[in-house]
Amino acid sequence: MEVRAEFAKFYDVEADALVVTIYEGEKADEGALKELDERTGGIVSEMLGTDEMRGKQNDTVYIYKPKNIRAERLLLVGAGKREEFSLDTIRKVTGSAARFLRGKGARSMAVLRRSQLEIGNSAQAAVEGVLLGLFEPDTYKTENKEERRIHDLILLAATPGSEDALAQGVERGRIIGEAVNFARELSNEPSSTLTPTELAERAKETATRFGLDIDVLDEARMKELGMGALLGVARGSDEPAKMIVLRHTGDETNSNVIAIVGKGITFDSGGISIKPAEGMEKMKYDMSGAAATLAAMRAIAQLKPRVNVIGVMPTTENMPSGRAYKPGDVLRAMSGKTIEVINTDAEGRLILADAISYARKLGATKIIDLATLTGAVSIALGAINVAILGNDQLFVDEVRGAAREVGERFWQLPMDKDYREMIKSDIADIKNSSGRNAGTITAAYFLREFAEDTPWVHLDIAGTAWESERKPYMSKGPTGVAIRTLINYVCNHAAS
Ligand code: BES
Ligand code: MN
Ligand code: ZN
Repeated sequence: MEVRAEFAKFYDVEADALVVTIYEGEKADEGALKELDERTGGIVSEMLGTDEMRGKQNDTVYIYKPKNIRAERLLLVGAGKREEFSLDTIRKVTGSAARFLRGKGARSMAVLRRSQLEIGNSAQAAVEGVLLGLFEPDTYKTENKEERRIHDLILLAATPGSEDALAQGVERGRIIGEAVNFARELSNEPSSTLTPTELAERAKETATRFGLDIDVLDEARMKELGMGALLGVARGSDEPAKMIVLRHTGDETNSNVIAIVGKGITFDSGGISIKPAEGMEKMKYDMSGAAATLAAMRAIAQLKPRVNVIGVMPTTENMPSGRAYKPGDVLRAMSGKTIEVINTDAEGRLILADAISYARKLGATKIIDLATLTGAVSIALGAINVAILGNDQLFVDEVRGAAREVGERFWQLPMDKDYREMIKSDIADIKNSSGRNAGTITAAYFLREFAEDTPWVHLDIAGTAWESERKPYMSKGPTGVAIRTLINYVCNHAAS
């Protein structure tokens, strides 16, 4: 998709469609709306206030060949309350408009800037919105595949002198939008295609293309390092496990390293504690944490913030077999801790335990892990909020702040010491499951044991990484949640 800014008046721009946002309760009595109303012979004022267009988010009115406007079509989109208008509104409005117009066969769309939000950030949000909106998980469709494309996005009403800010915003939006879609593509891949070995291959391609250092540990090296927790999970699978490590060195003079650690279970059958058949097909997306890590590292490589970041992706399948690990087994993690396996379906925390230890060994001074870790997070927060937990309130607040800035919703769960009791084992240092109560918190507590004294934040994305309903601004399927937050956190960190 080509993106360009135009300084022409909105009625002079050549495009298949012109997109204009309308605020809730707005009248066509001033500014661009008034001009639009006069040119179109009063359509706008006549329509406003009817049930078709009250300016509520998702209200859309599509006008065929509007008079006195060069664009072929006019699309009016509700933006909600003016006071609540934000970068996230821009993202959703442009996403909805792009999806709608693609359905009508439009190949170019022009968007009129109507808010006073900073121009670079607005442009970034618009580009992200269109890219995220147009994503379809249809790699494997041969029928009814969406072949139509929006080739040109035109941003209107830029102010002279803002060219640089605008160009930078467009570029950031493209980098971030493409990175998120890359992760969504990976999460959507069937597990027989996206094996741990294939995930490592895609990471290598990414590293070569965007300039990241990469190291992929095979099982022999993991054994040398004593990664008994990860290797325990891997035992049931015929696919060899990998530990993928990517590195961005943005500041050689600084010894601080942020580690992003993402769960990469390419298929979670539950293992010997096997899952019910219903819904098991979705467990191909149990590598969404690793996909987010890879995508964030890809964007970081392009944005080049002056900060050191490593991405650590432990990846394996969780399968039942004659060689699989079993309930009652005791595993010895890389840190030396022993773990009693109560349930082989609580495998994510096991592979993350060794990945977190390894990140610390590589010099991580801050760790953010993210994982489709527990079904319990959906019970607590639904598909709306990511659960955030950590051992350092300041760090939690920084990550939450970074999320808020990019329109992602994170909600903190408590980590009182008392929860530690729940993961005590009778025969080993800790156990990997303590039943249903406080499932998201006890899983986080388990990970906390391996972060030790390193500032650490955990994101449980099991409820939010997959959208089961299509939205006007987004297809259903993998969402790429948390990636924009990770990128924003790292860039904020570099700036401070
Ligand atoms: N990958 C699952 C968590 C999950 C469940 C993600 C549903 C997305 C949708 C994880 O490995 C798991 O199985 N967790 C168990 C833990 C339990 C055995 C303590 C769970 O949540 O049921
Ligand atoms: Mn599981
Ligand atoms: Zn899992």
